[in-house]
Amino acid sequence: MIVFSDIYKIREHRWRDPALSWGLVPTMGYLHEGHLSLVRRARRENDRVGVSIFLNPIQFNNPQDLQTYPVDIERDLDLLQQEQVDLVWTPSPEIMYPEEFQTYVNVERVTQPLEGEKRPGHFQGVTTVVAKLFNVFQPHRAYFGQKDAQQLIAIKKMARDLNFNVEIVPCSIVREEDGLAMSSRNKNLSPAARKQAICLYGALNAAKQAVAAGETNANSLRKIMTDIIEGADRARIDYVSVSNSDTLQELDALTGQALLSLAVYFDDVRLIDNMIVN
Ligand code: PAJ
Repeated sequence: MIVFSDIYKIREHRWRDPALSWGLVPTMGYLHEGHLSLVRRARRENDRVGVSIFLNPIQFNNPQDLQTYPVDIERDLDLLQQEQVDLVWTPSPEIMYPEEFQTYVNVERVTQPLEGEKRPGHFQGVTTVVAKLFNVFQPHRAYFGQKDAQQLIAIKKMARDLNFNVEIVPCSIVREEDGLAMSSRNKNLSPAARKQAICLYGALNAAKQAVAAGETNANSLRKIMTDIIEGADRARIDYVSVSNSDTLQELDALTGQALLSLAVYFDDVRLIDNMIVN
């Protein structure tokens, strides 16, 4: 495994043998089994696997969130080595955003609601950095988790609208044994909050079961989820949503596929989770 921070070295290595296929897994580090499931899939589907580790400052609308985001680069590199990753890019903020940087990518409509509404500027930061990652690695395939459902939709739109020559591969959510979706931010949960955080999965499952039993009223589903989360005294709801799974517009009644999605604070830690229902 080779680790570089300079762009020209990544490019040189990437193009040594132009006949080989490349898969890219973009990350912000502090890797867990969710990230590694993307890496393993990329390993199976490509000749070469690249991973980027970059804690992207411009996607953090909340400075406190950036400051407390966990970092352990040595451990990350060990894990990636075990997964037989070929190339890791660890750029500094100065390499990614040199002085006078002033070009941004904005995906318009699908980034407006949900995370976009609660975290102004977040998606502009995500799509800008992912566009740069695509341009540096020029991968055949890039792997993203359904955990960040709106991010995945925004990146698919960007790739389509700007004609990036890359296949966006969606990967399912990896959960802890008790159902909590894996996230680097879980490390910041107090033991009491960690116990209560399983209510997110509980809420999503309860709504899913209601749908399976015939419930089609979106407000009833929102109420089922809200009541369960409000049963946890450390939880503070940021949003509870039932939306169209392509446009992310809030629904009144379920017809086709819908996205159930949640953002909830446990003390200062903001967690998101989601589930698709039919
Ligand atoms: P990060 O939060 O590090 O996540 C990197 C990738 O891992 C994303 O595609 C995310 O959806 C996926 N992932 C995280 N937790 C997961 C889980 N429990 N199951 C499955 N996949 C999971 O998302 C980002 O970084 C950044 O926004 C990035 C795309 C790298 C741009 O900076």
